[in-house]
Amino acid sequence: MEIKTIGVVGAGQMGSGIAQVAAHAGFQVVMSDIAESLVQKGLATISKNLDRMMEKGKISSAKKDEIMGRVIGTIRTEEMAKVDFLVEAATENEPLKLSIFKELDQICRKEVILSSNTSSISITKIASATQRPSKVIGMHFMNPVPVMQLVEIIRGLQTSQETFEVVKSLAEKMGKTPVEANDSPGFISNRILLPMINEAIYALYEGVGTPEAIDTVMKLGMNHPMGPLALADLIGLDTCLAIMEVLHKGFGDSKYRPCPLLKKYVDAGYLGKKTGRGFYKY
Ligand code: CAA
Repeated sequence: MEIKTIGVVGAGQMGSGIAQVAAHAGFQVVMSDIAESLVQKGLATISKNLDRMMEKGKISSAKKDEIMGRVIGTIRTEEMAKVDFLVEAATENEPLKLSIFKELDQICRKEVILSSNTSSISITKIASATQRPSKVIGMHFMNPVPVMQLVEIIRGLQTSQETFEVVKSLAEKMGKTPVEANDSPGFISNRILLPMINEAIYALYEGVGTPEAIDTVMKLGMNHPMGPLALADLIGLDTCLAIMEVLHKGFGDSKYRPCPLLKKYVDAGYLGKKTGRGFYKY
């Protein structure tokens, strides 16, 4: 089946980024979320990103209109009946993802591949919510999606080789570099990244350094493009906590325990850049 239309469930920072990259690559996109305000916010983010590209002379205004014209926003999940491929990019919460996949399995045509942009949750488990486990796979984009080169592709236990090949080629069509990872908590990316971020939060918690000092050490000392605390704010502290909890529970090893300060910030609603406050104020 030729993939012409891609469904994106979730219009947040990851979903809108995936929708933008897919539309830019020439696909029709149906992007859904649970409230009209969230759909509109996602569309506005895409429009703003394309404006920035226009200002830099990377695309023309006609190209922007063409890309925007390919993205339809909706609050009706039933619209996913018309897509040829689906990426789920909802909140990092296992029961939520299981219920979304159960619903999508009813709505999407049976030949359609259902992929998840999950950062850490078991693809095998997500697949078990459907009647098509061989067509369920992880397609994990990095934030900010339009900028970052990597797409981590994760096979569940029952994912078929054909499904893997389709997703690999789709990632390449979107201008990304796919890398295969096994279905293990956090896959490759967050198995390595999140413990580093969590350790930076412990360093702050224990008074080893200020947020600025911790981030500057990693930027100037290790050549990271941004420090771990600023990166945690970009990812979202709720997402960081959810990933640490998956690692902690999945491995049963205390080395993955989420820092109490991370939990406290999430409890306070300090979720990072998206709420205007995390380790820094925005
Ligand atoms: N959306 C789209 N484009 C963006 C953007 C955004 N949110 N933020 C920055 N950009 C673009 C800019 O327009 C600019 O484009 P050009 O090169 O074409 O001019 C380019 O990115 C660089 O931006 P800036 O000059 O403003 O800033 P910078 O050089 O400091 O780069 C950054 C910003 C790309 C975010 C860089 O700091 C970086 O790479 N940080 C690390 C990001 C990272 O590690 N991401 C992975 C997070 S982990 C994850 O996503 C997985 C998970 O499951 C948690």
